[in-house]
Amino acid sequence: MLTRRRVLQGAAAAAGLVGLHTWRIEPHWLEVVHRTLPIRNLPGRLRGGSLVQLSDLHVGPRVDDDYILSTFRRVAALKPDIVVITGDFSSYHPAVFDQVSAIYRHVPKGRLATVAIPGNHDYGPAWNHPEIAQQIVDRITPFGVTVLRNQTQDVEGLQIVGLDDLWAGRFAPDDPLRALDSARASLVLTHNPDTVDLPGWSNYQGWILAGHTHGGQCKPPFLPPPLLPVRNRRYTAGEFALSGERRLYISRGVGHLLRVRFNVRPEVTVFELRPA
Ligand SMILES: [Fe+2]
Repeated sequence: MLTRRRVLQGAAAAAGLVGLHTWRIEPHWLEVVHRTLPIRNLPGRLRGGSLVQLSDLHVGPRVDDDYILSTFRRVAALKPDIVVITGDFSSYHPAVFDQVSAIYRHVPKGRLATVAIPGNHDYGPAWNHPEIAQQIVDRITPFGVTVLRNQTQDVEGLQIVGLDDLWAGRFAPDDPLRALDSARASLVLTHNPDTVDLPGWSNYQGWILAGHTHGGQCKPPFLPPPLLPVRNRRYTAGEFALSGERRLYISRGVGHLLRVRFNVRPEVTVFELRPA
């Protein structure tokens, strides 16, 4: 006989399983997403090459070091040509600098380049500590990562622009974007997807890779995620067509703030570089 008590017991067990999944399983259930990245004027030597995007690793007290290190090993095994990291290297706590050194010592490097930008969490409490961001950057760069802050790096003829963080008040796209050679291949990294709706993009056409949202971390089936740290709530995760021949890709990120993910698995994105 299906008694009321049995039904309640069943419901409690199901809720417990969902809770266990949301807390213990899905935050570390990494998905390696494969996509193509068609880029105009891509140099022949980069055609068919691979670019891996890591985002929002949030090294700190709430993300297991072992999970980050195993993610690094999975990426290194792919032998990528280029690795990009789109911000939130860390979550601030007083011992974060040594933890960042210990973990990023093992960061996977691209054969040609490893390029990164800071995110709001790298700027410490209330995102307003540039001296914390500088220390984080100083801890990462010795391991072969070039951190771009409204700067451009040329990688075998591909101009990669790395923009600094919006919420930290450091987003300044005008100079690096105006200086781009539009006859050559280019790619832009920005942490916060809301930046694409701000002025300063000049005549930029092409891809913009972002992170920041974590895909909302929890998403009811068939509905948008309720918690999303962006003004434009269209920017959840995945690919978006933008004005001015621009395209945006938002990674769901590797790490998390609170250790909960539901229906929004963490992501590493592997792009195959193709001529557009
Ligand atoms: Fe983040």
